[in-house]
Amino acid sequence: MATNRTILITGASSGIGKALAEAYAAPGTRLLLTGRNTERLAQVTALCMGKGAAVETALTPVTDSAAFAAQLLAWDDAAPIDIVIANAGISGGTGKAGGESDAQFRDIMQTNLDGTFNTVNPLLPRFMARKKGAVVLMSSMAGFRGMPTAPAYSVSKMAVRAYGEALRPLLKDSGVNVNVIFPGFIKTPLTDVNNFPMPFLMDAEGAAQYIIKGIAANRARIAFPWPMYLLSRFVAALPLWAGDFILARAPKKS
Ligand SMILES: NC(=O)c1ccc[n+]([C@@H]2O[C@H](COP(=O)([O-])OP(=O)(O)OC[C@H]3O[C@@H](n4cnc5c(N)ncnc54)[C@H](OP(=O)(O)O)[C@@H]3O)[C@@H](O)[C@H]2O)c1
Repeated sequence: MATNRTILITGASSGIGKALAEAYAAPGTRLLLTGRNTERLAQVTALCMGKGAAVETALTPVTDSAAFAAQLLAWDDAAPIDIVIANAGISGGTGKAGGESDAQFRDIMQTNLDGTFNTVNPLLPRFMARKKGAVVLMSSMAGFRGMPTAPAYSVSKMAVRAYGEALRPLLKDSGVNVNVIFPGFIKTPLTDVNNFPMPFLMDAEGAAQYIIKGIAANRARIAFPWPMYLLSRFVAALPLWAGDFILARAPKKS
């Protein structure tokens, strides 16, 4: 099968990553999908192959920097990667009485922040040498303002946002695009544990469409849905005391 482009998606075994893989799947597309769950990744693979895509998978965790880099470079050697979407991520709550555990904080940082770096950094010199490629990073509305419902998650997503905002102008003249994604609440296993009302909740398939259009248009920020983006930017722009007042009253896990 002739391959027109190669797209790498981490965290493709579930939620937004799965929806992205399915939406990109088409004849001529080579999808490189990663996750940790063998069964769910195999299901996504079958769906994407059913739509005519060529699919290769790896179960290497994004936290294993050396093994993951080796996998990425082997894939890129076989045929150059055009789009890398560093999507894999986890979240956690505030922890009960006394805040987040040491383990939770470190797991979130290692997956969401180190995992993003491990996904992008090995490929960057190759993208720059080829003067093309898209680097797509998954942040969150929690990347604009620390959320009392998820402190470590907020730190990780702010850091991912800062990484993307640093890379984009750095790579401006290199021919490499950098896009940072800021979804609102999306219905996935990650949010299924939230037992509070999630404003403007949308499905993963709808989210994938926003993301795909944003990447194609090389948008610096791919933020959706717009009411949630507006709300997040508004709260982040308020004086801290006013933001604290609102967020202290926002719905949270009981
Ligand atoms: N859902 C939302 O409302 C929302 C909003 C803003 C941002 N986001 C972000 O969007 C991304 C995807 O989230 P989602 O909602 O689609 O969650 P999800 O359904 O739980 O999917 C998370 C994906 O990440 C993978 N993953 C987690 N840790 C990994 C690791 N160490 N190594 C490799 N893969 C790993 C999971 O693989 P396995 O399941 O195979 O372990 C799974 O495929 C995350 O970065 C999340 O922070 C989500």
